[in-house]
Amino acid sequence: MKRLLWSVGLVSLWVCLSLSSSCTTIDQWGRKPPEKTTELLNRGKKLYEENCIQCHGPKGDGKGWKAAELKKKPRDFTVPFNEWSYSHGDPQKIFEVLKTGIPDTAMTEFRFSDQDQWALVYRVMEFSKGDGQ
Ligand code: HEC
Repeated sequence: MKRLLWSVGLVSLWVCLSLSSSCTTIDQWGRKPPEKTTELLNRGKKLYEENCIQCHGPKGDGKGWKAAELKKKPRDFTVPFNEWSYSHGDPQKIFEVLKTGIPDTAMTEFRFSDQDQWALVYRVMEFSKGDGQ
């Protein structure tokens, strides 16, 4: 019986490792991101217009009206997602950036609910081209 449990454990570990993308999107409390629904995306668009557009721009290209006065320019979300300097194609990292901000830049922390944060993660990912998921 013990052996059986061990193998079940090992198999699930293996599944987890080989499908690492499905593991990395689970946060440290084991919560999974909400599903990307049209409703959530629309919520993200609204929040983006209210909170992010002045820096990251209406097209997500980092050319908002506030960008000109910033030393460190806002991220251009239209380049392929895996080339984003901070999150490197990992939605979970974007989620964290929103919570913590990026030190020494104009990108400050925001206090959204988890649900709203995911709405924004999905919204900014929509801007990216290539394999931008
Ligand atoms: C006051 C200007 C400003 C506002 C407002 C702002 N950002 Fe940023 N953001 C920045 C700057 C500047 C950077 C780039 C920092 C760097 O490259 O180190 C950045 C970087 C990011 C990154 C990191 C991307 C990566 O992986 O390289 C994400 C994600 C992001 N912003 C999302 C948002 C979202 C979502 C909002 C709205 C809730 C927002 N930002 C509001 C200025 C801003």
